[in-house]
Amino acid sequence: MDMATWLNDAVLYQIYPQSFADSDGDGIGDLRGIADHLDYLAWLGVTAVWLNPCFVSPMRDAGYDIADYFAVDPRYGDNDDLAKLVDQARARGIRLLLDLVPGHTADTHPWFVASAHDPGDNRYIWSGPGPDGRLPERFVPSPGSRPGGYLPNFFDFQPALNFGYARQQADQPWRQGTEAEGPRANRAALRAIMGHWLGLGVSGFRVDMAYSLVKDDPGLAETSRLWREERAWLDRTHPDAALLSEWGDPAVAVPAGFHADFFLHFGGPSDGRPLRSLWSNGTSTERPEWVTEVCYFDAAGRGTASTFLAAYHDARAAIGESGHIALPTANHDFARLNAGPRIPEQLPPAFAFLLTFPTLPAIYYGDEIGMRHVPGLPGIEGSVMRSGYNRAGSRTPMQWDATANAGFSEAPASSLYLPVDPDPGRPTVAGQRAGQDSLLNTVRDLIALRRAHPELGYGGRLEILGDGYPLAYLRGDRFLVVINPSDRVRVLPHDRPELTRATAVKHTGVEVGQATITAAPFSFGIFQR
Ligand code: NOJ
Repeated sequence: MDMATWLNDAVLYQIYPQSFADSDGDGIGDLRGIADHLDYLAWLGVTAVWLNPCFVSPMRDAGYDIADYFAVDPRYGDNDDLAKLVDQARARGIRLLLDLVPGHTADTHPWFVASAHDPGDNRYIWSGPGPDGRLPERFVPSPGSRPGGYLPNFFDFQPALNFGYARQQADQPWRQGTEAEGPRANRAALRAIMGHWLGLGVSGFRVDMAYSLVKDDPGLAETSRLWREERAWLDRTHPDAALLSEWGDPAVAVPAGFHADFFLHFGGPSDGRPLRSLWSNGTSTERPEWVTEVCYFDAAGRGTASTFLAAYHDARAAIGESGHIALPTANHDFARLNAGPRIPEQLPPAFAFLLTFPTLPAIYYGDEIGMRHVPGLPGIEGSVMRSGYNRAGSRTPMQWDATANAGFSEAPASSLYLPVDPDPGRPTVAGQRAGQDSLLNTVRDLIALRRAHPELGYGGRLEILGDGYPLAYLRGDRFLVVINPSDRVRVLPHDRPELTRATAVKHTGVEVGQATITAAPFSFGIFQR
């Protein structure tokens, strides 16, 4: 059965709600602020929006610590505002996806507060102290009258919900099976949460740490089984809804039931796998010591696209037509596209790649105008990771125009969620809408092109002509795409005389000759036969 076919030509846009638009002047973005800018998103051409969590939360991890899955946090508005936003977006052809956080709650969630006082409760993973009086590794002491401690899922204040362990062990009684009463109750709760918001008209969910549910799970087999069960339920009840996982391994996540899995930001030196990203090492200028491998979008042209392409082909071979590989420009956890060592001149070729490759494109808010990763910001709401990496630089307010606070908010600058990029030359939506050759207008044209020609998207054939500098590939039967993110003229020999007859649909300095393709520094070209 064909589910959620709308994903086939979707262009996804991620909104970090804190930082998009503040409609009530409290310095924090909100749902009405988003609604006020739906015309902009429709103009840009995006077809679906993923909102980071907007539910009731103590906000120690920017809302990834949920205290009530069924209610919008008052700082963003209320459930009616969300219902209106869904309707107003749909009226413009834009679907809304929420963030589902299945693996943990806030430690202030009533489930956890009750569990911390009730030794018979199994919603979370509890252990008593061992014979030596100590808790098992990673467990955190109970904050309540219940003895022992609980297992966190990410930060210590995010207790892991109990979905069971794949392997039991007699001397570790907290390793319950996946069919124990706690795990079954939690799986039912997931369906209740999804059903609640799907009933309001949302089109699906990005699923946080989807891989993390069943513990000690070799090959993630039990976690996959769990998601297949949820997917079967979804297909029965809401066949048009989509689940997009934060898993980082589409070859496993799609067979596990996800319609799409995000691809970019895992892999690389920090986890021992080869770097799969074309334009990011997943880190930022704040941890330059992490950058041990050069990505393809290297101005000096020292990288290679082949690692990414091999990973793409492997993942595609594993999932076939059963799901999507989502490719984000960045997200709220990682450095923006415009972050050192990448430079702004590389952004047009990066977007040309994003919007002509058979992956599902996801644009992180502000990347379409080239907002930069702002260095040196204070960490707030959990934006300092356990590793010390600060994510705040990717979460600064959207830059709308030249008015105060870049048009993000009417609050005094000192009470903004995060400061606006102080660079006097910072890009804005208004400034770039006015500039014909601006990044924003380029991105808009590229989105329109992709939507007009399905061959440039998910369905079209892909043939790589060259994976060095420039990167060149054919899409469908008619399109040639050339990408040069380096600072030098690059020449690719070719033996396809038919390419010479191709006409440029959009290009920034690429020429196709009899036997060579020549690409100016930082250029891209899309040609049609
Ligand atoms: C991944 C989310 O993207 C990140 O922002 C969050 O801190 C962790 N999961 C924990 O939920």
